[in-house]
Amino acid sequence: MGFPVHRPRRLRVNENIRRMVRETKLSVDDLVQPFFVIYGEKVRNPVESMPGVYQLSIDYLVEEVKKARDLGIPAVILFGIPEKKDPVASGAYDENGIIQRAVRAIKEKVDDIIVITDVCLCEYTSHGHCGLVKGSEVLNDPTLELLAKTAVSHAKAGADIVAPSDMMDGRVAAIREALDGEGFYNVAIMSYSVKYASSYYGPFRDAADSAPKFGDRRSYQMDPPNAKEAIKEASLDIEEGADIIMVKPALPYLDVIRLVKDTFPEIPLAAYNVSGEYSMIKAAAKLGWIDYERVVMETLVGIKRAGADIILTYFAMEVAEKLIS
Ligand code: PBG
Ligand code: ZN
Repeated sequence: MGFPVHRPRRLRVNENIRRMVRETKLSVDDLVQPFFVIYGEKVRNPVESMPGVYQLSIDYLVEEVKKARDLGIPAVILFGIPEKKDPVASGAYDENGIIQRAVRAIKEKVDDIIVITDVCLCEYTSHGHCGLVKGSEVLNDPTLELLAKTAVSHAKAGADIVAPSDMMDGRVAAIREALDGEGFYNVAIMSYSVKYASSYYGPFRDAADSAPKFGDRRSYQMDPPNAKEAIKEASLDIEEGADIIMVKPALPYLDVIRLVKDTFPEIPLAAYNVSGEYSMIKAAAKLGWIDYERVVMETLVGIKRAGADIILTYFAMEVAEKLIS
């Protein structure tokens, strides 16, 4: 039986009825706020391609993390810009490196918020690749040890969750084993399991100064046309001990988010609303071409509706303010 008995518009006539039948609700609980941390004091460098995003020195970072906590955001994720880069990414696993110091400062001064650290080498290598390099090859197996060392140094500083974003094969197992070996069995792994070789990371590479100096990341990150391969990547990471898996970027891969969620419904799934996705909305808003606030909400709700349980987004604090007001 169809029209005129059925009139779907009945359930859309006002906001209260729409609220009652709404299927997906975005919550502050879903959000993770990323931060870029840099050496120095009272440093707040605007990232030109990401309006509203800054490279922050640790003192300012601590203040921002407090604000995030006060807004009810459950977690932040940290990216470091080291003082010096070298071919073996020494700054990544230095006990006194930028991330290690930032985590210690946050843990000393801010309670009640989860600190996630991005585990990768590209911000710390002079060549800008996510692993060790020999000639033009990005080496897999020798990189694993450095990633594991990096993760352990983050855990020692107090990180609650480590998030490997390098896409080397076997890194989740290597990190899990190293963490357990040092007694960090309660430090969780949020793996960037399904990470595409995407052009949407452009603004991030300005923010983190991590663009590869030669070639690109296509020999280790996933090929954008592939979706079924996401199941293979995610299942390997789950077997190796990932507690949370991730799809990245979010918007061009909503189908992949849905596929991964339906295939592994029992594993919490994160999606990364990446820098380019953020910058495009900011740019269109600046030109007056879109209704900024509505587009931001629609975007994040769409990512959640696709199946994400957790959303990493540069909009997190802005959106949290709206959600709690
Ligand atoms: C490091 C890393 C990147 C992002 C998260 N971790 C950059 C890259 O792989 O080039 C991208 C995040 C964003 O674009 O917002 N490997
Ligand atoms: Zn990297």
